[in-house]
Amino acid sequence: MMAGWRLVGGLSFLVAAMTAGLIVSHGGDVEGLRVAIRATARTSLLLFVLAFTASAMVELVPSDATRWQRRNRRYLGVSFAVSHFIHLGAILALASVDRALFWKLTNTTTIMLAGTAYLFIAAMAATSFDRTAAWLGPRKWRLLHLIGSWYIWISFAIAVGKRVPLERFYWPMFGLVLAAAIVRLLAMFGRNRRRGPIKAS
Ligand code: HEM
Repeated sequence: MMAGWRLVGGLSFLVAAMTAGLIVSHGGDVEGLRVAIRATARTSLLLFVLAFTASAMVELVPSDATRWQRRNRRYLGVSFAVSHFIHLGAILALASVDRALFWKLTNTTTIMLAGTAYLFIAAMAATSFDRTAAWLGPRKWRLLHLIGSWYIWISFAIAVGKRVPLERFYWPMFGLVLAAAIVRLLAMFGRNRRRGPIKAS
């Protein structure tokens, strides 16, 4: 099983090749860019969920697979960042090719909120190396990655949630988003239970 930075290389290559393939097979037209935007949003969601639930999964269902997931949490997270910056690249390409369609598909509020998600993604990816993580310190690192990951989760919940009424396909996708939060919350409650009630002195 691939692991570590090689995993980041392999996954990044796959997402980049998929994006290029989709654009080329559509003859480089706007529809190809839209398909690429949707496809990269989906690879991003899968990679995000794997990183977001890694610690919780190993606590709830310890196995070789979840231990692999936990060991590779950082690399799955960085691969998510790569996939999502490819999403952004395709969006910027669409905006430059067909400005009118771009504004039909999005608006300033979304750009502000989703743009903030990108600031978190960039900051989290930048602090995913031993040296930069050490520079930030464990307390601030944990806070940045805790707040950032829930902000990204909310971004997915909104982006997928608003598409649920449009097409049935979005139901299972939305289910995956919800399941990720439930897994995290279950692990959190389990941890608190093991710690026992807070005793009043
Ligand atoms: C400035 C930032 C962003 C812009 C302008 C943007 C724009 C878009 C556009 C235009 C689409 C629809 C493409 C189409 O239907 O042809 C799309 C799809 C999507 N985006 Fe983004 N996006 C941004 C950031 C984000 C972020 C931060 C997330 C989640 C963390 C996200 C998640 C999604 C999802 C889930 C879809 C739906 C994919 C599907 O149809 O399956 N986007 N985005």
